[in-house]
Amino acid sequence: MAYAIRDGIEDFHLTIIFGSRTEENILFREELDAICAACDKVKVVHVLSDEEKEGFEHGFITADIIGKYAQEPYSVFICGPEAMYRFVSGEIDKLGLPGKNVRREMLGVTKKVWEQPGYPAECKDKTFKLTIRQGPNEYVVDASANEPLLVAIERAGVAAPSRCRSGECGWCRSKLVSGQYFTPAENEGRRHSDVVNDYIHPCCTFALSDMVIEVPGEYLK
Ligand code: FES
Repeated sequence: MAYAIRDGIEDFHLTIIFGSRTEENILFREELDAICAACDKVKVVHVLSDEEKEGFEHGFITADIIGKYAQEPYSVFICGPEAMYRFVSGEIDKLGLPGKNVRREMLGVTKKVWEQPGYPAECKDKTFKLTIRQGPNEYVVDASANEPLLVAIERAGVAAPSRCRSGECGWCRSKLVSGQYFTPAENEGRRHSDVVNDYIHPCCTFALSDMVIEVPGEYLK
């Protein structure tokens, strides 16, 4: 994005809030400085967790730091190593931005869904019937409550679309016909209208009952 802004391909202001342990650990510093020098629409704020230095923010990337540098209205894009990502994600939640203004890196889906806030503990380790409708075809497969629906679909040999497998891209978007499910908050990338109209992302949806869904894609012969 920074290069696209510098080159005139995109036209918006970008502030990169870049977390590092120390000044010496900062990656891409020269590259970023060169972009900032060439284009006043791109700015970098370095946040050092292990060092206090003049000219740098100190600590982790918090909601306060983001709020200090963001120019209203704004969107945020989160990316980074997992521990940092999860921390920053929680901070961004505090900003109260509309969901469409928060874009997340493809982090994958939680491995232990039963540890997620709001998960009904009694469903852990259960197995449900998942009925998959795809065009004129219908398949019934076993789906563990502990795995995303997409895994059960693929294990059954059904060719369902997917890309990010993180709940972000919407490529696997499917219609829920019936059943109860759980989506971890950190993978909830659906539009509000999809939530209320019963569209799900099977890549990050976990069965809490028998389910019937309609998935798009190529029809198996
Ligand atoms: S594959 Fe991207 S949202 Fe499911």
